[in-house]
Amino acid sequence: MKLFVSEGNPHCLKVLAALEVAGLQCDVQFVNHEEKPVPFLSRPCLPALLLPNGQHLFSPNAICRYMFEVSGQECSEACDQWLEWEATELQPDLLQALHLAVLQGKESEATQVLAGPLSYLDQSLTKGTSPFLTGDVLSLADLVVCAALHPILSAPSLASGEPKSVRVWFDRVAASQSCVSASHKVLQGKGLQAMKSFMQRQPAPQSGQCRGGTQPCNNGPAEEGERVVSQEEMEAAAVTWGKGLNASTAATKRLHPILPQEGKRNILLTSALPYVNNVPHLGNIIGCVLSADVFSRYGRLRGWNVLFVCGTDEYGTATENKAREEGLTPQQICDKYHAIHASIYQWFQIDFDFFGRTTTEKQTEIAQNIFWRLHKNGFLVEDTVEQLRCEKCQRFLADRFVEGTCPHCNYPDARGDQCDKCGRLINAVELKAPHCKVCGQTPVIRSSKHLFLDLPKLEPQLEQWLDKTTSSGDWTANAKQITRSWLRDGLKPRCITRDLRWGTPVPHPDFKEKVFYVWFDAPIGYVSITANYTDKWEQWWKNPNQVELYNFMAKDNVPFHSVVFPCSLLGAQDNYTLVNHLIATEYLNYEDTKFSKSRGVGVFGDMAKDTGIPSDVWRFYLLYVRPEGQDSAFSWADMALKNNSELLNNLGNFINRAAMFVSKFFDGCVPAMELLQEDKKLLALVGWELQQYIQLMDKVKIRDALKHILSISRHGNQYIQVNEPWKKIKGGDAEWQRAGTVTGVSINVACLLSVMLLPYMPAVSRTIRDQLNAPDSCVSAMLRGTGAFTRVLDAGHRIGTVSPLFQKLEVEQIEALKKRFGGQQTPTQNAASPHSAATLPTPAMDVNAGADPEKARQLTQAVAEQGEKVRALKAQKAEKAAITAEVSKLLELKKQLTLAEGKSPEPTPVKGKKK
Ligand code: 2FM
Ligand code: ZN
Repeated sequence: MKLFVSEGNPHCLKVLAALEVAGLQCDVQFVNHEEKPVPFLSRPCLPALLLPNGQHLFSPNAICRYMFEVSGQECSEACDQWLEWEATELQPDLLQALHLAVLQGKESEATQVLAGPLSYLDQSLTKGTSPFLTGDVLSLADLVVCAALHPILSAPSLASGEPKSVRVWFDRVAASQSCVSASHKVLQGKGLQAMKSFMQRQPAPQSGQCRGGTQPCNNGPAEEGERVVSQEEMEAAAVTWGKGLNASTAATKRLHPILPQEGKRNILLTSALPYVNNVPHLGNIIGCVLSADVFSRYGRLRGWNVLFVCGTDEYGTATENKAREEGLTPQQICDKYHAIHASIYQWFQIDFDFFGRTTTEKQTEIAQNIFWRLHKNGFLVEDTVEQLRCEKCQRFLADRFVEGTCPHCNYPDARGDQCDKCGRLINAVELKAPHCKVCGQTPVIRSSKHLFLDLPKLEPQLEQWLDKTTSSGDWTANAKQITRSWLRDGLKPRCITRDLRWGTPVPHPDFKEKVFYVWFDAPIGYVSITANYTDKWEQWWKNPNQVELYNFMAKDNVPFHSVVFPCSLLGAQDNYTLVNHLIATEYLNYEDTKFSKSRGVGVFGDMAKDTGIPSDVWRFYLLYVRPEGQDSAFSWADMALKNNSELLNNLGNFINRAAMFVSKFFDGCVPAMELLQEDKKLLALVGWELQQYIQLMDKVKIRDALKHILSISRHGNQYIQVNEPWKKIKGGDAEWQRAGTVTGVSINVACLLSVMLLPYMPAVSRTIRDQLNAPDSCVSAMLRGTGAFTRVLDAGHRIGTVSPLFQKLEVEQIEALKKRFGGQQTPTQNAASPHSAATLPTPAMDVNAGADPEKARQLTQAVAEQGEKVRALKAQKAEKAAITAEVSKLLELKKQLTLAEGKSPEPTPVKGKKK
């Protein structure tokens, strides 16, 4: 085991303390803040623990927990809860406090920021009689929380106002040998100043933004964890409420084809076109299609004229390769996987206006047209390039089909385009000891003539456009930063042709044998897919004055959307619509690792439905942990926690109680309401949350906005709890009327929630509106304009049948799922579990005599795993005998697979597969 830590990084305190308490053998390496010990993470992420099996842990609490477990010390449920609290509630405030104290010298403000969490800690410590957080002995919970607070509570200038119980507990834990030595190693006796360089590298925390949860929104002085509402706010909220819904905002039906309309906000929305050759995993889904879906649904609620298009990205080497692997033609692969993608997105309720594909005639027509215009306008240059060619596979090797030793750092597994170790970009021909990733043979260098997009010539136009669009539009911080860094390094001509067969043909007679590079071609897919949707596509794509274009993607796609594609369109000089708002997510990890098809780790799109967890709950959780602003992780335990606490106990509970009161106490009819201060205060609180939601959603802060929905139901639950309508209903007239008002107000809040929830959980939203028998006009009206909370369900309105909205996720169920998707599944285990459709036989195979789809599924997985093993051995230059033995196992498995698929076992010659 190897632990990577850095000086001055506060997250390293806890892992070093935990290591000492656990008493494990571990090589501790101090590195600088920029070091990236986890090869697949693009950002430095410290601390990181390299496990004996080669995997990495990089969440500080997971590292601590792991160390404790390995040393045989159990982590109790209470301890887990503290770890969760520390990571989700304490850390954001701590980071803000450290930012204020270390970088801005605002010490008193820093202490204020921590008042909430410290008082929570105080309550827990004074509630019982135990000296430690989880009982009579020091546990991991104490170490983690104490280490987190250490920099603040041990700084003389900051520590003063904390509650006494916290001070006593802190001094006790901090005096332990493990904490003392960890602090010495990380802070070097320099206190807060030790962290300056680390803090300077952290993104500035967003202050004043409500995170929901147990913390109050720090907007003005807080009292009892709640925003203080002024008298004026309450009166204004009551006036708005009294106005009722503006019924003139009739619901507009979506009529296809949707075209831009005069006087409307016309929004063209795209989500990155997923590669056709794979089944998307949860990270792919949240990164583009799901985020874009939420925003397009929201846009429609706002009354914007939205067109949402997407489709599969079908050309390129990866498709050719997949075809070779599966013994199908590239076109068959595209057809098969296009259908798989479409059905996954349908299950996730992604409401595209059109879901197309890139292998169409329109694509050829539009891509070739743009090409000729670039050519005519002098933006294409010719050059000869040296390329690696595998004589055995008879093809030029695309960058990711060659591996070798990095010419910069000698890392043996560098890819053809980049080294995962030192992060430098590589030109494939510079690789030392290159080998073909498919067959292992050493490729030869061949030269070939290609066409390049002259980015340097287009740069001035690009910069001018970027200045304008990034300042007027909504670009996520990572999108701006990645674009800036591309420009800072200076643009170079970019090759747009490839020696491949599976692609859009280059129409130039001198380049007859070539196709367009997939990254030149793919974004043109947005245009051609729209052209397949409507002949009037130019109204969207050549109409920059009337249309606003939003592109959704994961951050690795940014440069192609902010630099390369805009340059193609600018150079075409055809009045194309260019991106106005570029929305890029960071990465979603799976538990503490990354998704991996070959290792069977993680949940892939087609598996979600077989978990028995409803599509809406999946959507909710993915959006709750959307990697917005920073990487995040999918965690089963957390998903269960959020389902049970936020959906079931908070949101569902509130809506269900409100509706049950109407149906049980008032015969299913909304009672008359007479507002008192108490009610007006709730209206003001809800109104404020609604405003925050709209402001955030307008800026595509989808994850942040969701928290305000949950805050509303929290306010609602508290309101019901304080007013106790179930007791008042049994009292005299005045009390009975009070119960009526509370119920009436609550049911209206529930109705608002159903609309705010619609972009996130469309099915649940529909169910709530059905239960409330809410008019469709509330959907079209409630989020229009500046958005104000008003009455929709008047006294006398009859609601429908009420039933619970959510179900608890049980621990055993979650444990079983975690196991099932945790990787290292053997083919036999897999037999019991649903599979990636990537491994499903095609329909044609099913009808073959002798086909055994179940067995084929198991074998496909086994072949993939064995293939990985062989590739790894070859890459490590293992002994020939060892490789041969594994290769023959692989061939045997492949033969069995062919039989199980009902096909003839003779190998198909490679040539025969090419189109
Ligand atoms: O990264 C990907 O999945 C690419 N297929 C995205 C392409 S986006 C657009 F340009 F088509
Ligand atoms: Zn080869």
